[in-house]
Amino acid sequence: MDIKAVKTTPFQDQILGTSGLRKKVSVVRQTHYIENFVQSIFDSLDGFEGKTLVIGGDGRFYNSQAIQMIIKIAVANQFGRLVIGQNGILSTPAASHLIVKKQAFGGIILSASHNPGGSDGDFGIKYDIETGAPAPQTLADAISARTKNIDRYWTIDLPEIDLSRIGEQTVGSTVIEVIDSVSDYALYMQEIFDFNLIRSLFRQGFTMTFDSMNAVTGPYAKYIFETLLGAAEGSVIRATPLPDFGGVHPEPNLTYNKSLVDFMKSDQATDFAAASDGDGDRYMILGPSFFVNPSDSLAILAGYMDQIPFYASSMSGVARSMPTSAAVDMVARQKGFPVFETPTGWKFFGSLLGARKIALCGEESFGAGSSHLYEKDGIWAVLFWLTILAKTGLSVQRVNEELWHAYGRIYTSTHSYEDLDSAKAKLLMEQLRSSLPTLPQKEYNGFKIKEAFDFSYTDPITGDVADKQGICLVFEDHSRIVMRLSGTGSSGATLRVYYNRFMGDPKDFSRDVQEVIEPLVTISKDVSDLKALTGREYPTVIT
Ligand code: G1P
Ligand code: ZN
Repeated sequence: MDIKAVKTTPFQDQILGTSGLRKKVSVVRQTHYIENFVQSIFDSLDGFEGKTLVIGGDGRFYNSQAIQMIIKIAVANQFGRLVIGQNGILSTPAASHLIVKKQAFGGIILSASHNPGGSDGDFGIKYDIETGAPAPQTLADAISARTKNIDRYWTIDLPEIDLSRIGEQTVGSTVIEVIDSVSDYALYMQEIFDFNLIRSLFRQGFTMTFDSMNAVTGPYAKYIFETLLGAAEGSVIRATPLPDFGGVHPEPNLTYNKSLVDFMKSDQATDFAAASDGDGDRYMILGPSFFVNPSDSLAILAGYMDQIPFYASSMSGVARSMPTSAAVDMVARQKGFPVFETPTGWKFFGSLLGARKIALCGEESFGAGSSHLYEKDGIWAVLFWLTILAKTGLSVQRVNEELWHAYGRIYTSTHSYEDLDSAKAKLLMEQLRSSLPTLPQKEYNGFKIKEAFDFSYTDPITGDVADKQGICLVFEDHSRIVMRLSGTGSSGATLRVYYNRFMGDPKDFSRDVQEVIEPLVTISKDVSDLKALTGREYPTVIT
């Protein structure tokens, strides 16, 4: 086997965002693009020779071609074993679990998560470390820096590896192992949750719809919900991963999965519905004519965590990203768990999980996870919900209402303004940042600003500092507005504006969310001069 050094020149745009590298397919198809990036990852790591690397992706367009390139580079870089999901398929949580189970050095996950797929869609590459957690910021920075001066990558000549056949073969000193994508993950879920309990729910006639949105969770959900748990055949819909997700934007929220939301408002609604995203780490929970906000969902999971024996010995603290509502804080306070507030992005939970400071974490963007693996996990969250429903016998709506009755309701919504001109979006943030000292004590329509600051985070374990993580306006009545720019887009800029408003009186628990937050929406537009600077009056996505 001849290892070749291929001369290359850097691409200046290989910068890791909130969750790895995200680019248009047309960009990653440039000659040397994938190779440069993957070699830059390896050049930023030490001591992986002879060790195991997990590789898989969400099955989107270019997944298989990219995996063939990565195999060659990984073999040439002397990894000892490559563990690859059959047909190149691994959900993000399944890959994270395999990294730990196989005691791998790390893993490469090919996914642009919930971004659209297909030949003119998005592609993405992320690296997870040996704990199965996303590359921490310091490593992400090192990889980005290396991409800027890389001048060669290592590769070999190798015929295409047949990824459809489970089994092992040896190339040089590397074993290439193709494994079933689903079975290890499904086994692990059975260690965490009582499958007999959930089975009994379905035996009593409980009905469910799980929408895989033509993305990676199809095979996982079919096997777990229908085969193992006895949900009726056909409960899992859009269950075949397609390279273009069937033209669907695989993001489980009120805008991009309106079809499921509408179905749950219809006469055919099932008792419970859920959906997951492109790579299987997000989830959305619905009941008949009822939507569970992800911030509330996290609080609900925190409330039931100590009833799941798997967590009995590890139940420590909880963490949420800063834009996520403080509903979980209220539950945690009552249970005596510490709460950590991190910047947006799963990478900030890794060190807290590793140090056993937290057992549960989540984000308002439809992500939740726990100490069971260090990525967010959509199917895990759905199994957790099924466990709660089986244990309590309550409806989805009732479970959520119990949270409000115990703690009050934090109305919460995120407005995203997509595809903005990048320079204008940056200017908006800069102007807002410089106006911060003038904002406290200002009053808008009866809402008085108490604090105005740019969120900065010092990781309590590593001491790493992440600043400029989002502008927060906190009001006297505890309402809050957060504004930040997305770090997962592949072009232009997306402004995210997060709104929270607390209501303590039960007569206010069934109001319309958008109507409740409306005064805050107006304030956010005023303070940021949104319309003048972006030309936009309304968001493109409301969740
Ligand atoms: C978005 C979400 C964030 C999540 C990330 C990856 O990032 O807001 O919570 O961790 O996707 O799934 P953003 O585009 O806002 O940077
Ligand atoms: Zn995702």
